[in-house]
Amino acid sequence: MDFYLDTANLDEIKKYAAWGVVDGVTTNPSLIAKEKVSLEKRIKDIAKIVNGPISSEVIATDLPGMLKEARRYAHWHKNVYVKVPMNENGLKAVGILKKEGIHTNMTLVFSGGQALLAAKAGATLVSPFIGRLDDISEDGMALIAEMVEIYANYGYETKILVASIRHPRHVIEAARIGADIATMPPAVLEKLIGHPLTDKGISLFRDDWEKVKNLQ
Ligand code: G3P
Repeated sequence: MDFYLDTANLDEIKKYAAWGVVDGVTTNPSLIAKEKVSLEKRIKDIAKIVNGPISSEVIATDLPGMLKEARRYAHWHKNVYVKVPMNENGLKAVGILKKEGIHTNMTLVFSGGQALLAAKAGATLVSPFIGRLDDISEDGMALIAEMVEIYANYGYETKILVASIRHPRHVIEAARIGADIATMPPAVLEKLIGHPLTDKGISLFRDDWEKVKNLQ
């Protein structure tokens, strides 16, 4: 399973990239707004840290506007994947961009039907938002299971990028189901590494070693 960081913060990206388990980065307009920087500058800076797909989202909602932004983003760096919302113009944009060799990430996907359309349009990645489904008492993980089954049935190449992840169980369950990628906030990656029994075990081994380390 590939791990992406769902943040536009450079300090966080540097810290977790050093763990050696970060395969890409996803951003969205809200994450960029938090950073108060230009999108172009931030995407280029992220590309200097992580050598993998970096999602940059279009703001336009009309087709010519979406295509113009997408082509501009794609020029910034070879690893830019253009994030396009799931709607009529988004679908059209994904098909056109695919023919131009521009990678896309079809975002704001909340149903199996939308996921099927994203794959048929030729999106490179598709982003189902599981946390936002859970937030409204729907079952985000059930959507991931549905998508894995549908894509396997037809051999679609579109990769499932599980997004809107809220906690480590989301990552583990998505991995059990066989989703391709999980994009997570740094706090979730941080929680994946920790376990109280690991800390206790290290401490115990060190204490015991102290008792024998000087023996000949
Ligand atoms: O980047 C898209 C997605 O991961 C957003 O998550 O927490 O705003 O629902 P969230």
